[in-house]
Amino acid sequence: MKTPFNVDACGIIALPKISDPRGNLTFIEGGDHIPFDIRRVYYLYDVPGGAERGGHAHKGLQQLIVAMSGSFDIVLDDGVNKKRIHLNRSNFGLYVCPMIWRELDNFSSGSVCMVLASNKYDEDDYYRNYDEYLAARGVSK
Ligand code: TYD
Repeated sequence: MKTPFNVDACGIIALPKISDPRGNLTFIEGGDHIPFDIRRVYYLYDVPGGAERGGHAHKGLQQLIVAMSGSFDIVLDDGVNKKRIHLNRSNFGLYVCPMIWRELDNFSSGSVCMVLASNKYDEDDYYRNYDEYLAARGVSK
């Protein structure tokens, strides 16, 4: 059975960590440590205090979100259930499956949010209107 695209299909993935007194090392191999091949990497940085990012859902894109530095919160919403997750470790990533509305907030000063994505940027893959997103999920308000 195909996994339903809800907040329970999203979750924290513990990434490999090579601990070393000279500094720790973490690596991510697409299709191995995360359930998709990586076709794009982007990152948010210089985020001003109080800023909010996200505010959209993706039709088909899968992502892994990692706090490379500092911390921030991600609110996942599948139209029925919501989950707030705090990221603050660079050897843990949040896997986000398709069709999940997400908001990012509570960025600490100097934080860096790196996103590994299963596909290249495609504006047609976005729902940017929450009502349209709910309609696509078949959720009535
Ligand atoms: P958006 O995905 O809305 O950012 P966030 O979810 O972090 O708030 O993208 C912001 C802008 O950047 C938008 O105009 C599209 C553009 N963009 C790209 O050109 N390429 C990309 O890979 C991404 C993620 C965004």
